[in-house]
Amino acid sequence: MGIDPAGQVIVVTGSSSGIGAAAARRLAARGATVCLLARRADELESVAAGIRADGGRADAYPVDLTDEAATRRTVAEVLAAHGRVDVLLSNAARSIRRPIAESLDRLHDHERVMAINYFAAVRLVHLLLPSMLAQGGGHVVVSSTLSTQVPIPLFSAYLASKSALESYVRSLSAELGHAGITTSVVHFPMVRTPMSGGTEIYRAMRMMSPDQAARWIERAVVSRPSRVTSAFGVAGEASMALLPGVVTRATAPFFRRMDRELARRAAAGDVHE
Ligand SMILES: NC(=O)c1ccc[n+]([C@@H]2O[C@H](COP(=O)([O-])OP(=O)(O)OC[C@H]3O[C@@H](n4cnc5c(N)ncnc54)[C@H](OP(=O)(O)O)[C@@H]3O)[C@@H](O)[C@H]2O)c1
Repeated sequence: MGIDPAGQVIVVTGSSSGIGAAAARRLAARGATVCLLARRADELESVAAGIRADGGRADAYPVDLTDEAATRRTVAEVLAAHGRVDVLLSNAARSIRRPIAESLDRLHDHERVMAINYFAAVRLVHLLLPSMLAQGGGHVVVSSTLSTQVPIPLFSAYLASKSALESYVRSLSAELGHAGITTSVVHFPMVRTPMSGGTEIYRAMRMMSPDQAARWIERAVVSRPSRVTSAFGVAGEASMALLPGVVTRATAPFFRRMDRELARRAAAGDVHE
């Protein structure tokens, strides 16, 4: 059931590592042509070469997506080479974990995170939308997080950028759903990737693998639901809608205890790789 990825042209941003690389492999294995976008050319080419070695179709387009001119050139190259883009997987991002109280002179944290997580993602939609509308539709998938459903401390810039993007794609489907433009927000829990590996104490946390995360992306591409999430995410969202103050006050001490416990276990070498 759903829409077969075979024969579809899928742009995957942030596909030089982690979830994006795993999703590109999975979608290519189902017959999609994947266009891989990220900055690190060697990593990107190695993901593309691996897909081609397995019989799939993949092209690497090294680009810094915060660079408007370079992004425009890349989109023009993709459309010239493939004629169309059926699905945009907007997955490239950066994360910053820092207390607000230690960020008072660091507005640039927000600027840097918004530059890639929000503005670059919106720019790509704007650049691809004319061709999607002309071909009768297209699907936009965004990689987001469980933590926009239940707020966790220490990720204010990151979570604000993800919430902004979620809000943007909700507007996109509300305005252009009738013209065939659909969107899916994927609310991942923690996934073992270079991004989550940037925080030492998270070595002690059990996480989803990139291959499992890629299956969530596959579901978003095939079934095109407005969101892909977990039972925990749904429960969190519902309780935040009903009692946001109570839930925020009740969960904050839990998250502080969780961080202390992870730090203790990481220091003791009780880690998951
Ligand atoms: N890991 C988790 O626990 C987790 C949880 C929830 C949601 N997510 C989301 O999942 C997505 C994938 O993250 P990941 O965990 O797989 O981390 P990752 O391996 O670090 O992937 C991030 C990707 O973004 C690309 N990127 C960053 N800045 C870029 C730029 N300026 N231009 C082009 N590409 C850029 C990186 O490639 P280059 O460095 O080569 O440019 C990389 O391919 C992100 O949207 C993240 O927010 C992750």
